[in-house]
Amino acid sequence: METITIRDRQFTLSIPEHDILKAVKNVAEQINNDMQNLNPLFICVLNGAFMFASDLMKHISIPCEITFIKLSSYAGLYTTGVVKEVMGLSESVIERNVVVVEDIVDTGITMERILSSLTTQGAKSIKVATFLQKPDALQRPINIDYVAMKIPNDFIVGYGLDYDGYGRNLKEIYTVIND
Ligand code: PRP
Repeated sequence: METITIRDRQFTLSIPEHDILKAVKNVAEQINNDMQNLNPLFICVLNGAFMFASDLMKHISIPCEITFIKLSSYAGLYTTGVVKEVMGLSESVIERNVVVVEDIVDTGITMERILSSLTTQGAKSIKVATFLQKPDALQRPINIDYVAMKIPNDFIVGYGLDYDGYGRNLKEIYTVIND
């Protein structure tokens, strides 16, 4: 069992790089099929989604643009329930077909806030692409169009996701070992 230590916690390898990249490519292929001629605007939600967005975009073969927003709500292992907008959208989404790119939909509180904001701003259509989803943790009625992988309701790090800012650089996903 491969384990690592980040700050005061131990984590064990749960999703290897090969499985991650295969699942991400699969999502890109679905988007390529569904969104031909729609000139999508991908909106990457920083910080966590940077690695997923990067690998996803390498396999998107239709004309598209990408931009970034930054939201924050977690402290340590738990959501504060308060979503802070740290950096907003710099371009108009009016009449645009947007794809929100997230690393994880956990409670759904962050995604609910993003979808509400994009609707208010006049997006023509809104799709959601997330690398991970925790179906058992969902607290909001969010429609998620593309999910690379579904996982149990455990705290995880790696592939963009952090524990107190650390672990985002890991190319695999690790699950916390409860003690
Ligand atoms: C994480 C993740 C999502 C959100 C999901 O962001 O990137 O945006 O939490 O959780 P939810 O469904 O319970 O709202 P975080 O606030 O940790 O910021 P980060 O992306 O900078 O790590």
